[in-house]
Amino acid sequence: MPDQTVPEQTGKFDELQNRLKAHQQEHVLQFWDEISESQRKQLATQIDELDLVQLDALIAGQDAKQDFAAMAQVADPPPSVDAEGSGANWTTTEARLRGEQAIRDGQVGAVIVAGGQGTRLGFPQPKGMFPIGPVSNRTLFQFFADRLIAIQQAYSVKIPLFVMTSEATDDETRAYFQEHNYLGLSPNDVVIFKQGTMPAVDAESGKLLLAEKDSLALSPDGHGGTVAALQRSGCLQEARERGVRQLAYIQVDNPLAHLCDPTLLGHHLMAESEMTTQVIRKRYATERVGNVVSIDGKVHIIEYSDLPESAAEATDEEGQLRLWAGNIAVHIIDVDFLQRVSDSSDALPFHRALKKVPYLAPSGRLDNPAQPNATKFERFIFDLLPQAKNAFVVEVLPCQGFAPVKNADGAATDTPSLARRAISELHQAWIESSGGVVGSGVQVEINPRFAMNSGELSNKISPKIRVETDRYFDTPIRMH
Ligand code: UD1
Repeated sequence: MPDQTVPEQTGKFDELQNRLKAHQQEHVLQFWDEISESQRKQLATQIDELDLVQLDALIAGQDAKQDFAAMAQVADPPPSVDAEGSGANWTTTEARLRGEQAIRDGQVGAVIVAGGQGTRLGFPQPKGMFPIGPVSNRTLFQFFADRLIAIQQAYSVKIPLFVMTSEATDDETRAYFQEHNYLGLSPNDVVIFKQGTMPAVDAESGKLLLAEKDSLALSPDGHGGTVAALQRSGCLQEARERGVRQLAYIQVDNPLAHLCDPTLLGHHLMAESEMTTQVIRKRYATERVGNVVSIDGKVHIIEYSDLPESAAEATDEEGQLRLWAGNIAVHIIDVDFLQRVSDSSDALPFHRALKKVPYLAPSGRLDNPAQPNATKFERFIFDLLPQAKNAFVVEVLPCQGFAPVKNADGAATDTPSLARRAISELHQAWIESSGGVVGSGVQVEINPRFAMNSGELSNKISPKIRVETDRYFDTPIRMH
């Protein structure tokens, strides 16, 4: 039963209608008379939060679009330190010591982006809650919490953790951290903040789509939304007040990600870089990772879906892939740099994706399109790289740092089973490098609180160890 229209609501309706009319979007008020006062409030808030001028420019294609094919033609491999440490004017040991000092001095904070919905994975909860430990069944969030606990203990320091969620993952993520005692972290050191949204528009007409009578079709604004969300939520300010100078950024979907890795941090600091990114050597030309390249002396990432196949396949004189560096979304970002770019609203360009978006037709019926019908706009954090001074690239071996969980089991790549196998194989290699033996088909898993690397492990286990049944090496959590 619709509410009686009172003058205050009429005023709001008129104001919204006038504003929307100036941008030919007033149709989103079509069901105003049919919805309750609280529903009107919700819709009005969503409309108030739209940047209609920016949206006009995006729909008209007036924003600075990137011509990826042209970029690919002039792209070179990026300047980088390879996995053995060559390519820099300093050694890996010097880098590690420098990074360790920065951690010890409390200059490092951690950011995990966890706003994605895990649609491809087919997991109905936030991806961070996905169980991935091959023996322990620990979740992705627990993997990173354990790593942070281990680093905090090793360097006697507090590392603030900023977890970015989205509308879809926020409530459950907060409840998960609360119900699980912040996974052993101090609640004072964990801040959960929500990314923004962008509206989806009809791909042909540019009209805003309604998801319901009282709601626009909105979706997360991409992980580039981290920049604005860190600022808006006060996290950037908090990081600065805590003396944090560098943020170690990872995606929640890679259990092998080296969150707050001292050596990566050290390379970043030695290079006086404002943003450093860790890469893998692509295992095949069309691997679904962003391509980290150099164009006119600036580091850029060209997404796999945007790189022409000929550029992806091109090889050098030795027959190796010319554009070899694959993005694993592990970045170190200078806080002053982040502040500088977050002060400017157009620091990051928008990318467009053509998607199937269910919408309310003018008849009031929900339309579930069989074909992509809508344009979604997203920003990517890695578009900060060309703007960063001395942007730097550091290679890690995939077996040590990249086992993404993207697709449901059964897919050819990036599945939970493959990630679990990669974790177990890495930890088996650590045990073997200490002289131990792991029986065939046996799964092993080492919690970073037990040992963070093979060197640490060799001080904890006997070189004669034989592991004949699945085994999880763990140390009890010391509660805060
Ligand atoms: C991404 C990278 C790709 C890289 C690969 C490595 C992009 C566009 N591409 O691909 O270059 O090689 O990871 O694994 O990022 N997320 C949010 N909010 C958003 C969107 C995403 O928090 O609005 C988070 C997701 O939770 C996820 C991560 O960002 O953890 C990656 O997003 P996804 O869209 O899955 O990117 P990929 O195609 O996997």
